[in-house]
Amino acid sequence: MKRKGVEIIDINVKELIKDLNRALAAEALAAYRYKLLSNLVSGINSPQVAEVFNEMSKDEWNHVGLLMERIVQIEGKPITNTSDWQKYSYSTYKEPPKDPTDLEKMIKDSVEDEREAIDFYNKLYSKTQHADPVTAQVIQEILAEEVDDEDKLLRLLGE
Ligand SMILES: [Fe+2]
Ligand SMILES: [Fe+2]
Repeated sequence: MKRKGVEIIDINVKELIKDLNRALAAEALAAYRYKLLSNLVSGINSPQVAEVFNEMSKDEWNHVGLLMERIVQIEGKPITNTSDWQKYSYSTYKEPPKDPTDLEKMIKDSVEDEREAIDFYNKLYSKTQHADPVTAQVIQEILAEEVDDEDKLLRLLGE
């Protein structure tokens, strides 16, 4: 049976599912990247930075779950092939620097990622705010956490 919860969405649902999958792909890559960084970091201050990256990895993975849940709820299909993550992501994957003691580069690349996330979610929030308040609520929750991530990373840089 057609879902009332999908009927009430006042924007193109196919486009919305595409946007949610673009976000899902970016989040999956971010979760992997932060976990990788948390294991690679080396040198002075690295335990503290590793802890921040590790926590962020968990948060981004949680975002994957939230997006996936919403996609399924509106009768969409989440990306099934992990090799599509880079293709669908709204952001370009940033490989860790060769030098594992280059914390500044790791953190600055991460700030860039978070800023892209903030832009993406802010636009998606505007698109859905009135047309699909349920998706908007999910996006708002994620957006707030990306804003917090940017703040945490800038604090590590002393900014
Ligand atoms: Fe995220
Ligand atoms: Fe984030």
